[in-house]
Amino acid sequence: MEGQLRLDRFLSDAGQLARSEAKKAIRQGRVRVNDISEKSPERKVSEKDVVSLDGRVLKMAPDFVYYLLNKPAGYLSATQDKSQQTVLDLVPHDKRRDLFPVGRLDKDTEGLLLITDDGGLAHRLLSPANHVDKTYYALVRGAMTREDVKAFQEGLDIGDEKPTLPAELKILSVKREGQAGEDTLSRVEITVREGRFHQVKRMVMAVGKEVIYLKRLSMGPLMLPDDLAEGEFRQLLREEILF
Ligand code: URA
Repeated sequence: MEGQLRLDRFLSDAGQLARSEAKKAIRQGRVRVNDISEKSPERKVSEKDVVSLDGRVLKMAPDFVYYLLNKPAGYLSATQDKSQQTVLDLVPHDKRRDLFPVGRLDKDTEGLLLITDDGGLAHRLLSPANHVDKTYYALVRGAMTREDVKAFQEGLDIGDEKPTLPAELKILSVKREGQAGEDTLSRVEITVREGRFHQVKRMVMAVGKEVIYLKRLSMGPLMLPDDLAEGEFRQLLREEILF
């Protein structure tokens, strides 16, 4: 039945015990389920059951964990790597959970990255059929133009089999910068509905300019909070994700 788990797993999750300690406590008769002593670690329980350890009622730990991370540059969106730091180095380790990042940001890209052990949610957020919007802030070398806005709207050939789906380009500013005004830099927001490899950088390249800084601001219903510093994360509840 959905939402059921073994009593020893429940106890180790909710009571922060190692699985072996949980089994021992159950066998020692220190655990009661609905006020009846229970000595079998295999006994299945759900959130409807009242489980107590040494007379203290335990609350079921949330089934999955969700960390909304403000990824700094320099970290790989991977679960492990032999020589480089990964985004999992930035969230608390919990050996009972198989945490992974939902999708990828390039090593030099910053911003919103969800880290979870909820494979179903990851699938829904990443599925091409769901067209989840992802909005990025980009600093671009070169002047982004109205023609570029139109080209993004129409979909761009970025060298893949198919052109991209329509994307939104919002130009925030275009300025001459550098000591002698030799560089033109554009600040833009770009919203894409796919998750192709290096998609934003390749779309900007397709209109003859170059992304020199990239940060993800949102993914579907999730927004990067203004007060979340680089390298910091916020733990979310399932209800906050609304997807
Ligand atoms: N597009 C890119 O080019 N890079 C990212 O990291 C994300 C989107």
